[in-house]
This record gives sequence, structure tokens and C-alpha cells, in this order.
Amino acid sequence: MEKMPFRAELDVQTFEAPAAGRTISSDWRQQLPVLTGRQVRLRELRASDAPALFALLTTDEVARFISPPPTTIEGFKRFIAWTLRQRSAGTYACFAVTVAGQDTAIGLFQVRETEPGFGTAEWGFAIGSPFWGMGLFQEGAELVLQFVFETLGAHRLEARAALRNGRGNGALRKIGAVQEGVLRRSFLRNGEYLDQALYAIVDDDWRASRSTAREHVTVVH
Ligand SMILES: CC(C)(COP(=O)(O)OP(=O)(O)OC[C@H]1O[C@@H](n2cnc3c(N)ncnc32)[C@H](O)[C@@H]1OP(=O)(O)O)[C@@H](O)C(=O)NCCC(=O)NCCS
Repeated sequence: MEKMPFRAELDVQTFEAPAAGRTISSDWRQQLPVLTGRQVRLRELRASDAPALFALLTTDEVARFISPPPTTIEGFKRFIAWTLRQRSAGTYACFAVTVAGQDTAIGLFQVRETEPGFGTAEWGFAIGSPFWGMGLFQEGAELVLQFVFETLGAHRLEARAALRNGRGNGALRKIGAVQEGVLRRSFLRNGEYLDQALYAIVDDDWRASRSTAREHVTVVH
């Protein structure tokens, strides 16, 4: 999330055609699919999510290691409108995290292409701190990984986490992201350049971990 867009002024209205040979589902550009797990439901953002996201994502413990979130409800509304324009352009997707059975947005997962056609992509995420440590992140992340590798057709998904962000690094590791290096003094936050870890998940590893998980399921007849 560190270098993920969180500001409407970063708006870019360009559209890149997918690289030749890549099969990409185009439906998500019209409207993001609803991704449903046991505890979480991920859906497209709406302007009405702005007050809840403002309340949950602007606290110091959530925001201290990520790109500064909007500082007003209006700012979140502009950010949400920007996410919808970028989704229509096919370069970016942002899911609201909701708890199954409720519709309040309690967090976000963002994915942006870093290569035209989403061959490679970067993601970021933030969840309101009252919802940390409950398994919501992991379940939401698994739904987003399936969207990224199967619907977008990406082969590599990167993330950056400030080294000081213990929870962010722990969260990435537990879903199978591999730390590939350290980007020294690469993230300016509160007037200080922080080191970031670069993580990646590649499609082959993701598919292999899913089939291993399936092999470990005991079938009872
Ligand atoms: C990142 C985020 C979405 C993860 O959600 P979460 O519910 O806190 O994640 P989880 O509790 O499932 O996983 C965090 C893991 O980090 C571990 N952890 C916590 N503090 C840690 C630390 N200081 N050092 C190392 N690991 C730590 C936790 O023990 C947990 O692992 P476990 O479940 O195996 O015990 C959430 O913490 C958040 O929104 N943080 C603020 C925004 C942010 O930093 N986003 C960018 C991340 S790169």
C-alpha cells in the first residue's frame, strides 16, 4: 500500500490495450465482481462508503506506514470516484472489504497494473484496526489473489511494506508472499525516507500452494 495511489490528484485517464497473447476477462471493467468468502465479502466501492472509510483508515495506527489517506470525507468521495474511473479504464481495481451479512466498508484492497494488460501488478490493502487479527485479511487476500491470477491473468503480484510495519510484513508472509529484497530509503513518510521490503507472489507458486492445500483436505466418506 505504501506506494499505492490514495489520492484523486494522481488521476490518469489513459488506456493501454492488453499485451498480445494475454487472455483477460473484460467484465470487471464494467463492474467489479462481488467476491464472497465465509467471513468477508469484497465489492465495488460506492460514494456512500466515504464516511466509514474516513473513520477507519485515517487513524494513526492504520495510516502511519501507508500513503497518506484523504483527510476528509469529501476527499474519500473523490478517491472513490477516481477508483471507478481507473477501473473503467482497465488499469486498476479497488475492492471494499465488508463483513459477511453487513454492508459497511471496513477496509480496501487495491490492485494496479505495473505493466500494460496486468501481466505484472502491485497490490495494497488496509483494514480498520478493530478488525485486525480476525482472519478477515487472509480470507480477503485469498479472494483478491484468485481475482488477480485468474480474472486479470497476472503472472506476478508485487507488494511493498515498510520494514518497520511489522503487521504488514507478517500479513504478507502468512499468505505466501516472498520477500525479494529491500528498497532502501524508498518511501517518504512524515518527512523521513523509510526502507521497504519488496514482496512478490508469482502465479505458479500460487497455483501450487492451492493444489497442496487441496491435497491436505481429508475427504470423509
Ligand atoms: C495489513 C493489514 C491489512 C493486515 O490485517 P491483520 O488483520 O492485521 O492481519 P493478520 O492479523 O491476519 O496478520 C498479521 C500477522 O502479522 C503478525 N504480526 C503482528 N505484529 C507483528 C510484528 N511486529 N512483526 C512481525 N509480525 C507481526 C501477526 O501475528 C499476524 O500473523 P499470525 O496471524 O500468523 O499471528 C492490517 O494490519 C492493516 O490494515 N494495517 C495498516 C495498513 C497497512 O499497513 N497496510 C500495508 C501493509 S503492506
